[in-house]
Amino acid sequence: MRILHISDLHTTSPNFVAEWGETVVGNVRSLNPDVVVVTGDLTDDGHVHEYDTAKSWVDRFDTDNLLLVPGNHDARNPGYRIFKETFGTRMPFFENDRVAVLGIDSTEPDLDDGHVGREKYDFIREKLGTTGRLRILAMHHHLVPIPGTGRERHIPVDSGDVLNLCLELGIDFVLSGHKHVHWIWRIEDTYLVTAGTATSRRLKGRSWPSFNILDIEDETAVLKEMNVATEAVRDVRTTRSGAGRESGPACHPADTGLTSAS
Ligand SMILES: [Fe+2]
Ligand SMILES: [Fe+2]
Repeated sequence: MRILHISDLHTTSPNFVAEWGETVVGNVRSLNPDVVVVTGDLTDDGHVHEYDTAKSWVDRFDTDNLLLVPGNHDARNPGYRIFKETFGTRMPFFENDRVAVLGIDSTEPDLDDGHVGREKYDFIREKLGTTGRLRILAMHHHLVPIPGTGRERHIPVDSGDVLNLCLELGIDFVLSGHKHVHWIWRIEDTYLVTAGTATSRRLKGRSWPSFNILDIEDETAVLKEMNVATEAVRDVRTTRSGAGRESGPACHPADTGLTSAS
């Protein structure tokens, strides 16, 4: 099965590139995913008309299983309410016999800082605590700082506790956005995957707009990244799916060039 991870569309920003939006829509449709996860910042300031625009874009994905969580930009003004009105929930969930995908709201109204909140921890345990299938947690904010993206400011105030919960449960992938750059950390058996912005010019240095493709076979999970500007696809990481994955380097620099000293 195939899961697409898309983030930070910022469809109403002056930095939104409609051509990239069309590229994303076209590829989502042709890649025929089973699930599409969008990890927030669909709008720029959370206004009603912005949600109308954002919805018009994601509706064109034409996919049955679209899971959306709000980003800090969506929670402004206070757009978190409009998010729920527009998309039905801020905590979407999908499961079948092979995967369980839970989206959680890591935003605070009118704040850019992330916050999951311990009241959600039992809900995460309930939805993702059962082993035997690939388990994915999606949220806007990143749990571990991302190199090359400037001063750390918005990481969830309870990121340590959430990270510990993810490791305790053995969650396979934590999908996030917010930093506008593709990156992967691996901690124990959990991959922390940050998607780049798919459609905004607010890039970091000479990085590129992109989204992630996760192909899950019987034994493996293959993570790829599509460069939206060039439509080139590169393999990022292959791992065994489910429990007992391979050992390997603790982190993956993802070749963005953001950490070079020059
Ligand atoms: Fe963003
Ligand atoms: Fe954000």
